Amino acid sequence: MTLSESDAMKKAAAEMAADEYIKDGMTVGLGTGSTAFFAIKRIGERVAEEKLALSCVSTSEKSAQLGRSFGLNVVPFEGTGPIDVTIDGADEIDPQLQLIKGLGGALLMEKIIAAATETEVIIADRSKLVDVLGTTSPLPVEVLRFGYERTKYALEKQGCEATLRTKDGEIFITDGGNYIYDCDFGPIERPFFLESRLNIIPGVIENGLFLNTASVAIVARGPDEVETLRRA
Ligand code: A5P
Repeated sequence: MTLSESDAMKKAAAEMAADEYIKDGMTVGLGTGSTAFFAIKRIGERVAEEKLALSCVSTSEKSAQLGRSFGLNVVPFEGTGPIDVTIDGADEIDPQLQLIKGLGGALLMEKIIAAATETEVIIADRSKLVDVLGTTSPLPVEVLRFGYERTKYALEKQGCEATLRTKDGEIFITDGGNYIYDCDFGPIERPFFLESRLNIIPGVIENGLFLNTASVAIVARGPDEVETLRRA
């Protein structure tokens, strides 16, 4: 089966990250999404080929299952020390490597894992690069089910249109048992300010702004053209 150009780019970025950043003995964070899929697969191949001893913690139930299916030692995050490297995708990457994440629904665990990670490696194809966050993606915001309609009202007072995420006709429920609003703010010129406003809304559990989180972004501009971007 031949991969689409988009999948070939995701695979190229993911494999470069897995080959360059994963070393024997590490604790590794597994990201979530279609790009992270290729990284998890490649890490599994390296474990099998090179007999690497890794402990892996996952940002979602789905990636935990995927990791196990590729032969990885996936352990609970609780009781695990600092994470050496996490390889995860993103929905938008700006020139300062600030991110929007969460279209895959795993933003809460992704942010907790990222905060415990020494080197957060973001992998993406070129479609994720933007000049200003909010250009192509809404901002996912995870909210408690209790009072969620009131939380929507508070979110929209910050200047967005908030759409409750659904899947297959049902309200989408995160691994943490919460709902997600996809918030269209348009271009987000002041992400740190917006984050501070969102974080004080009762009922907001986490938002998809990942600011000063990425250490490096490995971005495929084509299937054979992968570039490493570092935060200044
Ligand atoms: C998961 O919640 C997201 O943060 C993903 O990392 C993001 O949606 C990227 O997914 P793709 O690699 O499938 O584009």
